[in-house]
Amino acid sequence: MGGAGTYKPTGKNDRAVLLEMIHSTTNTSAEDLLFSYKGMLYPSILCSLETFQALETFEAREDDLLVATYPKNGTNWLIQILCEIVSLVHHREPLPDATMIEFGSPEILARFKDRPSPRILSTHLDFKNIPKSFFEKKVKILLVLRNPKDTAVSFYQFHNSLPALPSYNSWATFFKDFTNGTVVYGQYFDFVATWEKHFDEKTMMAITFEEMKLDFPSAVKKISEFFQFSLTEEQIHLVANRTTFNSMKEKSENTHGKLGDSFFRKGEIGDWKNYFTEDQSKVVDTMFEKYLAGTKLGKMLNYDKYCKF
Ligand code: A3P
Repeated sequence: MGGAGTYKPTGKNDRAVLLEMIHSTTNTSAEDLLFSYKGMLYPSILCSLETFQALETFEAREDDLLVATYPKNGTNWLIQILCEIVSLVHHREPLPDATMIEFGSPEILARFKDRPSPRILSTHLDFKNIPKSFFEKKVKILLVLRNPKDTAVSFYQFHNSLPALPSYNSWATFFKDFTNGTVVYGQYFDFVATWEKHFDEKTMMAITFEEMKLDFPSAVKKISEFFQFSLTEEQIHLVANRTTFNSMKEKSENTHGKLGDSFFRKGEIGDWKNYFTEDQSKVVDTMFEKYLAGTKLGKMLNYDKYCKF
């Protein structure tokens, strides 16, 4: 197993390097594609022990913009929104470099030091594994959530379209792994419930995929205000227009190379109804009750509206 630790720098944009690593994976066994660290599974093509160790001393900056997500909750959407906002305010190229702090070799991570402020960073790491420096520096963290049923379907399709993740013969098999948490980054409800427990209103804001779909300009305004960027109404609409699903899919060859169609699949609410059986739906309903009913983040998910047949 090669793993991210063996990557040799080439001088290319690090994001392009990571995308190429994902695309050109030739391993086929799940065992080779998964890497376990402190009891959690990660994609071995992208994550390594060396990088996790280097992350422990990662130096955050007060003006970093951190996007935290469970996989398939809209990470790339938010990154592009922030790139467009920062590009308007700081007159920079709106195409992102590598943003996931836990991806790639320690050399890639070290190059984050050379990035100009404000740096746009992202992570799928569990709250407990986020480098301490982000909290010491009171970095603003935007948590993006998506309803668990669409998350599961999107994640299933992603496994079957990305060579870097184990593929599944059936939705039923994936569903079992998803609910058991035997997928990369663990169990969805654990992830959200841990954020709920540590949520600090002063430095964190949560937004949902569904609320962004329903009223996108208002969501862009809310995001820009949270990160203290003052955009005109015209700029808000410009950012929103540049980051619709269709607009991002059209540009995806530029931003995601050959993996564009894997990252921009449908971008809809409710696709889960095409996959879930009644029984599977009930399993997730019970998990929601157990982990999130009555919580702030649970309420934001608007579960009855988005997760009932
Ligand atoms: P689907 O698989 O349901 O289509 P992530 O970036 O965290 O991997 O999330 C990917 C999901 O977000 C995919 O969901 C993708 O289509 C959706 N997505 C990406 N950009 C989007 C946009 N601009 N608008 C709506 N959905 C978007």
